Amino acid sequence: MSKKYNVAVVGANGAVGEEILAILTEVDFPINKLVPLASSRSAGKTVEFNGKEVVIKELTHTVFKEEEIEIALFSAGGSVSAEFAPAAVEAGAVVIDNTSHFRMDKNTPLVVPEVNPEDIAKWTDTGIIANPNCSTIQMVQALKPLDVAYDLKRVDIATYQATSGAGKTAMEELVTQMQSFFAFKLDEIEPKAFPHQIALNVIPQIDKFTDNGYTKEEMKMVNETTKIMHKQLEVSATCVRVPTLRGHAEAVTLTFGRDVDAAEARNILSRSENIVVLDEPSQSLYPMPATAFGRNETFVGRIRNDNFRKNMIHMFIVADNLRVGAATNAVRIAQKWVAMQGE
Ligand SMILES: NC(=O)c1ccc[n+]([C@@H]2O[C@H](COP(=O)([O-])OP(=O)(O)OC[C@H]3O[C@@H](n4cnc5c(N)ncnc54)[C@H](OP(=O)(O)O)[C@@H]3O)[C@@H](O)[C@H]2O)c1
Repeated sequence: MSKKYNVAVVGANGAVGEEILAILTEVDFPINKLVPLASSRSAGKTVEFNGKEVVIKELTHTVFKEEEIEIALFSAGGSVSAEFAPAAVEAGAVVIDNTSHFRMDKNTPLVVPEVNPEDIAKWTDTGIIANPNCSTIQMVQALKPLDVAYDLKRVDIATYQATSGAGKTAMEELVTQMQSFFAFKLDEIEPKAFPHQIALNVIPQIDKFTDNGYTKEEMKMVNETTKIMHKQLEVSATCVRVPTLRGHAEAVTLTFGRDVDAAEARNILSRSENIVVLDEPSQSLYPMPATAFGRNETFVGRIRNDNFRKNMIHMFIVADNLRVGAATNAVRIAQKWVAMQGE
């Protein structure tokens, strides 16, 4: 009989954690024991796993050893990973971390299974495998096959990112503000999760600004793309928060070393792993956040040549940020890691 694992989900009742629990069930992950963890605020509450209510335990430095955890999926914020991931590794677990904390550490692999699965083997260096930023994951899935075909040189992106990218309370903030709008009380609401009102607005700032005028979210797209693709690419992003609940969209312009044909690029993408091409302009068929809701694929459309340069194409990429951008990617890494243990 094949081995089953003791799995901990840290941040189990968060926006990403709940999706991880759902996906572990959907893919029939080989689980012996599932241990949901969160802060003392949530300990004793329950989460649903595989049709049953499972009690959340408090995240402590000793829980991984006590529960004999072998795989720990972290999504409870960077400071939580910084403090507790080493305890999980110490207890003998592999950590798959959704936060930004370890992503750019040179000894920690940063993995999107469709792009650089071979990097998972480097997990033994630190015991940790990092999951990239949500906007980066869906983009590199589409970039990789086109890079192989046309030698990618430069990527220019404008994102349209859903409120769930900032967690459950941020989604609630959008809903509350919309309700206040319909009650003619929107001006009474103090923004908390975002620097400005998000209802009926778009905000060209995600995370804090850095000294170069770009935000941390934008610089994550620059630095993580280079690390995952193993290639020094020119990447420039403008990350924008929009008043949707779920599903990040990206308008992407790609510049290649060779001339590129949009029809051929469409064919390449439609044959690529976990990519769905939706591109029939005459029927208004293209991906939107509503298309991607709850899905594990990345959707690409509006694929077209540049009007002026033969080595450039434009496209629109959409994925469910809580799934493809976080939970699905983490579980796919875990599945590949499990497969490697049998080799
Ligand atoms: N949302 C996305 O699209 C996305 C994508 C990629 C990566 N991420 C990353 O994943 C992490 C979680 O994001 P989220 O959207 O799921 O946030 P969220 O909805 O706010 O959930 C946060 C989770 O972390 C737990 N938590 C918070 N502080 C804790 C502590 N001190 N000890 C133990 N557990 C603690 C919370 O439990 P309590 O209820 O006990 O506080 C909750 O389960 C973040 O680092 C985020 O950057 C998010």
